[in-house]
Amino acid sequence: MKSLKLLLMLCAFPFISLAGDGVCNMKKAKKVFSKCAACHSVNKGGATILGPNLFGVVGRESGAVQSFPYSPALIDYKKTWTEAELHKFIENPMKVVPGTMMAFRGLKKIEDRNAVICLLEENK
Ligand code: HEC
Repeated sequence: MKSLKLLLMLCAFPFISLAGDGVCNMKKAKKVFSKCAACHSVNKGGATILGPNLFGVVGRESGAVQSFPYSPALIDYKKTWTEAELHKFIENPMKVVPGTMMAFRGLKKIEDRNAVICLLEENK
């Protein structure tokens, strides 16, 4: 019974976050984003580091930062960065966009991706 409850909670959690109803664990988000921050700024008008500035990335077309020299792979990807697309990409960038310059092995844990996507949504 206990494990069933746990299972139900685990199933419900991603939906709660995907629905975007304000469930954002900022402490966790900042910790997870520190992995991205080596290459990405997320503040408005933030610098290009190794990757493009991620301010406003949720809902944006992929490859849309004019000043950033994207790889042909990402230019050809042509997706809108919805929460679902971000989940897919961030879980395994090099598999989802073969040839991407984003040399990052990905966030395998859904709670890590939820936290970081939540942070991205806050920055728009
Ligand atoms: C080693 C550096 C590096 C790390 C670490 C990194 N990225 Fe990236 N990221 C890049 C580069 C470079 C690109 C551009 C990829 C291309 O053009 O193929 C990119 C592209 C992206 C894009 C697409 C942006 C657009 O405008 O289409 C998203 C979203 C993104 N990264 C999110 C993240 C998140 C979230 C993390 C942390 C979990 C992260 N990245 C970690 C280097 C990195």
